[in-house]
Amino acid sequence: MYTPQVLDHFQNPRNVGEMADANAVGESGSAVCGDVMRIFLRIEGGVVQKASFKTFGCGAAIATSSVLTELVKGKTIDEVRKIKNTDVVAMLGGLPPIKIHCSVLAEETLKAALDDYERRTPSGTGK
Ligand code: FES
Repeated sequence: MYTPQVLDHFQNPRNVGEMADANAVGESGSAVCGDVMRIFLRIEGGVVQKASFKTFGCGAAIATSSVLTELVKGKTIDEVRKIKNTDVVAMLGGLPPIKIHCSVLAEETLKAALDDYERRTPSGTGK
């Protein structure tokens, strides 16, 4: 049912936990299942320096959060804005159809984190 990449990120999730010096925090809940995801970013000079997550959810939600935090590191805000749930799914080698909404949750949470960053830096710092 799950690819080796999904199982790896579920069993050995990267970048787990809250980030004390995050300057972008996004939280989102899935309307489908009620799972909740939080993503923390440290953005400096318009580039994501660090990323972490805390997810209360299914194995696919853990795996998509984990791979997402790897994906965004070193990317500019504009590049991160363009990341879609399909990019996350591709990095995981695919997800079962009933688990696609877990990757949508990851995309929404990432967007919420970027929105939070822009609220904190209304002058557009780092863009
Ligand atoms: Fe809820 Fe996966 S079943 S995010």
